[in-house]
Amino acid sequence: MTVTIVGAQLGDEGKGGVVDLYGDTADVVARYQGGDNAGHTVVHDGEEYKLSLVPSGAVRDKVGVLGNGCVVNPETLFEEIDALRERGLDPDVRVAERAHVILPYHRALDGIEEEEKDDLAAGTTGRGIGPTYEDKAGRRGVRIGDLLDPDALRERLEYVVPQKKALAEKVFEKETGEAFDIDALYDTYREFGERLAEENMTVDCGSFLQERIDADESVMLEGAQGTSIDIDHGIYPYVTSSNPTAGGATVGTGLGPTVVGQGEVVGIIKAYLSRVGTGPLPTELGGVEGQTPDYDPAGASADEEELATYIRDEGGEYGTVTGRPRRVGWLDMPMLRHAARANGFTGLAINHIDVLAGLDEVKVGHSYEFDTAEQSSAGTQNAMRSDDDELLTMPPTTEQWGRCEATLKTFDGWADVDWAAVAEEGYDAIPENARTYLEYVSDELETPIYAVGVGPGREETVIVETPDE
Ligand code: GDP
Ligand code: IMO
Ligand code: MG
Repeated sequence: MTVTIVGAQLGDEGKGGVVDLYGDTADVVARYQGGDNAGHTVVHDGEEYKLSLVPSGAVRDKVGVLGNGCVVNPETLFEEIDALRERGLDPDVRVAERAHVILPYHRALDGIEEEEKDDLAAGTTGRGIGPTYEDKAGRRGVRIGDLLDPDALRERLEYVVPQKKALAEKVFEKETGEAFDIDALYDTYREFGERLAEENMTVDCGSFLQERIDADESVMLEGAQGTSIDIDHGIYPYVTSSNPTAGGATVGTGLGPTVVGQGEVVGIIKAYLSRVGTGPLPTELGGVEGQTPDYDPAGASADEEELATYIRDEGGEYGTVTGRPRRVGWLDMPMLRHAARANGFTGLAINHIDVLAGLDEVKVGHSYEFDTAEQSSAGTQNAMRSDDDELLTMPPTTEQWGRCEATLKTFDGWADVDWAAVAEEGYDAIPENARTYLEYVSDELETPIYAVGVGPGREETVIVETPDE
């Protein structure tokens, strides 16, 4: 049986915490896409772990797998494993031989292209994610299996590196160094290959996981990023370069769609929105310079700015990977309806309701108003609409999304309470107004609530249902 954990919004919904919450019943935790652009937080026994590549199950001694859909930077992987060992853990991490390798020139090109793109820049994490997936699709990538095969590695590097060097030097007019030097790359990456072999870390991911499932073990599939930054279903081009949506869990591991589909798909929702990166955000409160399009602090509403700062500080909304302040906004229901359909959620974990505690009222973007002239455009004519002819789901182009005005629905706020006590007592101990809010989300998405996050720690979670019990 599999349990797939998927971010329902823009990343950082608290996926790491939910993997940890349900991790006890899992034997293996596998990542299926992304790389060290992820930053998943697990708070365990008072210790906080911020994991970029090592699957979150490592904190509970579960076998971790980086699936074929991942892009792996061996340098950051080993750094993370070594740092966890220094903290007393002994992570057992396997890496798919079919996974692609992030090389130093990918990181360099990520930075160069972001600079070049200007308004179209996604505000990437700079980890080389996009350029590595580009090379994968261009059939010029280096895979983990190649690091263990000296001839294959040299052949691949000799083909690709001169192209990358020419791109950096001739197209972008940048100087290049060791990151674009075949011999230096070969030596370093062969060493990584030797360590992967010595520590017996490489696997044929699909077979490895299927054998575990056949032996009646439980496999958790840990998504990174979130649905609205999925390359196919997100706010293109302000997206990541992989498929965080549940379909990615099958392609990115080698497990069949029927295997993943027979399991659970849990959508992780933050009770408001946070966004690290650029592009429109209809329910945004205030703004963040360098990320919010056309942001003018002088023209911003003081009340909204104050509210945004309050939520950002209460929620610790500063990037796990980059430390950047995150943009914040009210929950966006059209985004969530889109996510529920694209992923087929069987259950929801709704986090961070403690962060909103103490506000007089809490709002959500229930639907979008969309210029009538736009409504007949091909992309939106089939979209779900309310009785008032408002859009209930996200329009397919980001430009249309940017022109949507959220119609807000207001809920009465709830008090700040002893959340650990609430978690111990159970769902009914959650303040009534917060339950009204949660049930509205669950009803709109026609999906049951499995868990409610009332704080960062594992013991600050109200468990309603455990997926595979
Ligand atoms: P991920 O990328 O989806 O795993 O999420 P991140 O770790 O990037 O960001 C989530 C942050 O919120 C982390 O600092 C978590 O410890 C914290 N967190 C998770 N759930 C809750 C919750 O219910 N309440 C509060 N206050 N913090 C939470
Ligand atoms: P987790 O797994 C939030 C965003 C970046 C940028 C865009 C593309 O912790 O939820 P990339 O480096 O992937 O090419 O950047 O995607 N982004 C994330 N935002 N959480 C993440 O991961 C993210 N990973 C990438 O900010 O806008
Ligand atoms: Mg994160």
